[in-house]
Amino acid sequence: MTHGLVDSFGRVHRDLRISLTDKCNLRCTYCMPADGVPLAPKPTLLTLEEMLTIARVAVEAGIAEIRLTGGEPLLRPDIVAIVEGLAALEGPEGHPEISMTTNGIGLARLAEPLREAGLARLNVSLDTLDPERFKTMTRRGRFDDVMAGLDAARATGFEPIKVNTVLLRGENDDEANDLLEWAIREGYELRFIEQMPLDGGHIWSRTEMITGAEILDALRAHHTLTEVPGRGAAPAELFEVDGGPARVGVVASVTMPFCGACDRLRLTSDGQLRSCLFSRTETNLRDILRSGASDDDITAKIHECLASKLPGHGINEPGFLQPPRPMSAIGG
Ligand code: GTP
Ligand code: 5AD
Ligand code: SF4
Repeated sequence: MTHGLVDSFGRVHRDLRISLTDKCNLRCTYCMPADGVPLAPKPTLLTLEEMLTIARVAVEAGIAEIRLTGGEPLLRPDIVAIVEGLAALEGPEGHPEISMTTNGIGLARLAEPLREAGLARLNVSLDTLDPERFKTMTRRGRFDDVMAGLDAARATGFEPIKVNTVLLRGENDDEANDLLEWAIREGYELRFIEQMPLDGGHIWSRTEMITGAEILDALRAHHTLTEVPGRGAAPAELFEVDGGPARVGVVASVTMPFCGACDRLRLTSDGQLRSCLFSRTETNLRDILRSGASDDDITAKIHECLASKLPGHGINEPGFLQPPRPMSAIGG
């Protein structure tokens, strides 16, 4: 058995992000078109057993953290069993840490069973504190459902709970400081995310994108921010707010890429392994699994995928093309 998932640039991969479904109960304008979103046909989706097999082999090869994403991961009816199965895996570094990124709507019902199943950490997406704006930005959601989900997550003992916010020019970019003050009051760690060219409707525009620098300027008008050292492979650059302990993060994927330290692989709900959010090729693990692949065959395919990993996402290079699949199908 080969230990250590190292790519051609010496980056060691410890993090597997699994997209559990390409379905979502929201239609955030910067992520999915209002309707007509093509979904993966059911027979192409990995079963629970297939997903656990791939995850087990990946953990045995060196994956130490698994993050569940979507679409909206809580739409999977077998979500509690998935978490339970993944948390029980064991590799050279012990059991993997299981975390999830969700829109929070299902948490009022699921926070407790998920924690009991072994979910360690939760990140929740929220772009506005205004219920009317929430309805407009998500097209389908109720703000109160997310609040109930966050309350349930906190009551269940998840700590930290991170909140992810994408700011859109002219829509919610006036809320940066309100969101930060709310998050500090509630005890959540807020992170602002630059909009990336990954949406299904191809609406991303470089000039419209709110940059990390703009966000930091807006926050610094009201607060002192001090960079926290030791970022490692994390997408978020963290800052202490007014001397701490509160923190705020900025994920500036476009203007300040962090690909040099990337430690992430991605598995889609239909069993395709990706070396990058932006890669234009995928490694088909589903079909080899269904034709009887051994653990060693799967490990070899994972290494093949790693070997194809490019040094960076290429968004700022001439000729950049958005990947064929949107973020809702790849996972965030
Ligand atoms: P923590 O482990 O809690 O720090 O989670 P995270 O920030 O890695 O994960 P989360 O799913 O909350 O992602 C926050 C934002 O970072 C999302 O918009 C993701 O799409 C983005 N992100 C996560 N990983 C990557 C990555 O490898 N590359 C890029 N460009 N963006 C990423
Ligand atoms: N660019 C940046 N972030 C995005 N998200 C969804 N689409 C995009 C995009 N195009 C965010 C969600 C969620 C996280 C997983 O990624 O709001 O917080
Ligand atoms: Fe890694 Fe690709 Fe994200 Fe860069 S854009 S950090 S290479 S997944």
